[in-house]
Amino acid sequence: MALTHSKLSFPPAFAWGYAAAAPQIEGASSLHGKGPSIWDAFAARPGTIHGGDDLSVACDHYNLYAEDFALMRELGARHYRLSVAWPRIYPMGDGAVNYAGLDYYDRLIDSLLAEGITPWVTLFHWDLPDALEGQHGGWRSRRIPELFGRYADTVVKTLGDRVKNWITINETVCFTRLAYGGHDKAPGANEPAGVVNQTFHHALLAHGQGVRAVREHGGPGARVGITDNPAVLVPVTETPADIAAARETFAWANERVLGAIHRGGYAPALLEADGRDAPRWQPGDFDLISAPTDFLGLNIYTGAWVQAGPDGRPRTLSYPPAYPRADSPWLYHVPQSLYWGPRFCAELYRPASIYITENGAGYDDPPPVDGEVHDLHRRDLVRNYLRELHRAIHDGVPVDGYFLWSFMDNFEWQDGYARRFGAVYCDFRTQRRTPKLTARWYREVMWANALV
Ligand code: NOJ
Repeated sequence: MALTHSKLSFPPAFAWGYAAAAPQIEGASSLHGKGPSIWDAFAARPGTIHGGDDLSVACDHYNLYAEDFALMRELGARHYRLSVAWPRIYPMGDGAVNYAGLDYYDRLIDSLLAEGITPWVTLFHWDLPDALEGQHGGWRSRRIPELFGRYADTVVKTLGDRVKNWITINETVCFTRLAYGGHDKAPGANEPAGVVNQTFHHALLAHGQGVRAVREHGGPGARVGITDNPAVLVPVTETPADIAAARETFAWANERVLGAIHRGGYAPALLEADGRDAPRWQPGDFDLISAPTDFLGLNIYTGAWVQAGPDGRPRTLSYPPAYPRADSPWLYHVPQSLYWGPRFCAELYRPASIYITENGAGYDDPPPVDGEVHDLHRRDLVRNYLRELHRAIHDGVPVDGYFLWSFMDNFEWQDGYARRFGAVYCDFRTQRRTPKLTARWYREVMWANALV
């Protein structure tokens, strides 16, 4: 009997690519007029970043972008999600535009297009101009989304003839709650809940400003969406009771960002739970915040397990000590998050289209041996997650693309350069790039448009 080898194909025109962000790869943090970002200032404070690392050189992508895009093409990517650094365009956040910064992205986009790679541009990936933190208190202030709108106008007007896919903001919770309600992320202010909830509201306004800028200046064919990292709750057992428990927990956990945007207001239950710490808004805010978008971007790396408890109420289980995770300690292996995350989003928010704008794994990979890095651990993690994404698409979830985080190892925020997410190994001393096994495997996946 001849056994068949079933092929897990993805839909035609599925967008495959890599994702990265300016502050994590560019370096040149004070070159050609760039102003400091809050991350430059944060890294200058002792004890904030693992190993005392900073963003000044990173992958030197500022200078090496042409070589990087040639390698990206060789490795089969046809889509690339990048970000523009706000302090490169407006060094003080406000005030005069830095034309050298605009020219840089002009050249960078041309170089990418010359390699046949489609750009997806994120307008804000956490690198707030530090001057805005000093003058206005950063995201605590309503002034920030206004200034972000002006910056977004400038970028979209300059690049909009060539860039047709725009992402407004990246991972709201990471530059609001984790940044203003804790010490892990810049600016590392330990503010009370009321202040933190207000930073969320200002982030939502910035998202709205980004959508407005693209609608006004994006030109024909421009599309825009947010990239969020929802808390993904996954049913322990795929029974109706556990699925309902996970969905209910998912909706509640993501009410402040995805719920508010898609509902066009804050849920009464959220405001009640916030009490005196509830965010304040002004008339018209939600017209901006909930303006229709073209897609929903999701960054999904992990999930938490939920089941219907003995009383029928949902309960979230803790991870036992032996539960597998990556070297990034928060990154528990939950491949099913790439099934239930997109699925719950589709059911609750009904986006026209979903893109997985990030997924991947952080490990402290050792340097190449004989020019090779056998990162089977990363490859296997990604493959298992992609199987679940395939299942979601098969079940009707409208997922139209997947971006692996990241193209090359880079500045992993408070974890510095030791924690590597790249498909390509970066030697930060020599700036030599070495494709890992994951990159070679992923090329075959993109080429075949199927899991191999
Ligand atoms: C999400 C963030 O958008 C990205 O900047 C970060 O490096 C990856 N996750 C990995 O932690």
